[in-house]
Amino acid sequence: MKVLVVGSGGREHALCRTFKRSEKVTKIFCADGNAGIADVAERVNIKPDEIDALARFAVENQIGLTFVGGETALALGITDEFERRGLKIVGASRSAARLEASKFFAKDFMWRHNIPTADYEIADSPRQATEILRSGRFGGEDARVVVKADGLAAGKGVIVAANRAEAERALNELENTVGRAAVERIVLEECLIGREISLIMFADGEHFALMPPVRDHKRIYENDAGANTGGMGTIADMSLLSKDETAKIIGEIIQPTLRGCQAEGFPFRGILFLGLMMTPTGAKVIEYNARFGDPETQVILVKLKTDLVEICEAIVNQTLDKITIEWEAGSSACIVLAGRGYPQKAQTGDVIYGLDKEFDDVSIFHAGTAKDAQGNYITNGGRVLGVTASAENLSEAIRRAYRAVGEISWNGMQYRRDIGK
Ligand code: AMP
Ligand code: GLY
Repeated sequence: MKVLVVGSGGREHALCRTFKRSEKVTKIFCADGNAGIADVAERVNIKPDEIDALARFAVENQIGLTFVGGETALALGITDEFERRGLKIVGASRSAARLEASKFFAKDFMWRHNIPTADYEIADSPRQATEILRSGRFGGEDARVVVKADGLAAGKGVIVAANRAEAERALNELENTVGRAAVERIVLEECLIGREISLIMFADGEHFALMPPVRDHKRIYENDAGANTGGMGTIADMSLLSKDETAKIIGEIIQPTLRGCQAEGFPFRGILFLGLMMTPTGAKVIEYNARFGDPETQVILVKLKTDLVEICEAIVNQTLDKITIEWEAGSSACIVLAGRGYPQKAQTGDVIYGLDKEFDDVSIFHAGTAKDAQGNYITNGGRVLGVTASAENLSEAIRRAYRAVGEISWNGMQYRRDIGK
């Protein structure tokens, strides 16, 4: 079978490597990939938002399975278009992807289906949002409040404000950072306090299969200081959620979500990602994503024992309940190495040293790399590499990952030294 992966980051490198392990796969294409992905897949020069060109490529090259990495293509309806042409694809439909593409839609959906989430209010403009804050709806001037642009904003549309003044400042600046369309609706939310967990599952519309729970470290600096990023490092470890917590999440969140999608006419088939806050009163949904996380995927897929193609076929055929998905015991950790300037505009073009070394149980996934004229790997994005290790326990996985990180360097490389702490 020939497989097409859509996307170009560390998540997609991990997906390509996992497909490479399948005996059913003869060839992997990646649109449009990066320099590291080129070692396992043939790069295709089509961007994820060029749906028609991707579909034509899949037909012409007899692609047996397409896997969509990121939200852009899903929100544009890549899955609907591929299915219309009789092509097999794993990814949420355009309607189902609204759970991620519109925070307003997601909050309303949770309200309709009684799914625990942060208390919220919707505003039609930054001005109306300011009025709501000043009315005291979310507490006094010192109350923490979260401001969210409705539309997709590549992680830049959410501001966790420490007080009302900071929230108002964020509202004034929002249009400049995410664009007019994304602020036509604004979600204001109570600030939830607790442990954050990423819980991702395979879903076939009716059945689901959970992946190991993951902790993502979202802030740029150690001790969770500084700006939010796409993720600076992750750990996968079964102890992140107890059996009881998981059972409650299934009953209160996952089942109502999947049933709600079915009842509203868009069964969720693909990868469903719950961003959860474990609050003193139980798990609450911070956000839905309609895709794998990045860098969550890296720590998850290094532990997957079952053939990913088999799982994808079960999603497409709606037979997830008929297969058993196996995971390696133990834990894994991924340290993101980012360029100087990330998460704002990062410096690129620096030669990366140390990529020739190999370590047991360590995978280096490329997120933003290219090659220069001499064939050296160079930086080509904000997040550059995801150094991922697995081991029998978490502290050993973290130790192995940082040992490999110690061998890698470039001018301006930055990373957090406290992933997993
Ligand atoms: P989102 O894009 O909705 O996942 O938000 C990005 C990050 O902001 C989340 O991963 C959380 O760390 C934080 N966040 C979002 N909403 C809330 C909330 N209601 N309370 C506390 N933190 C939040
Ligand atoms: N790492 C968080 C995300 O992929 O949304």
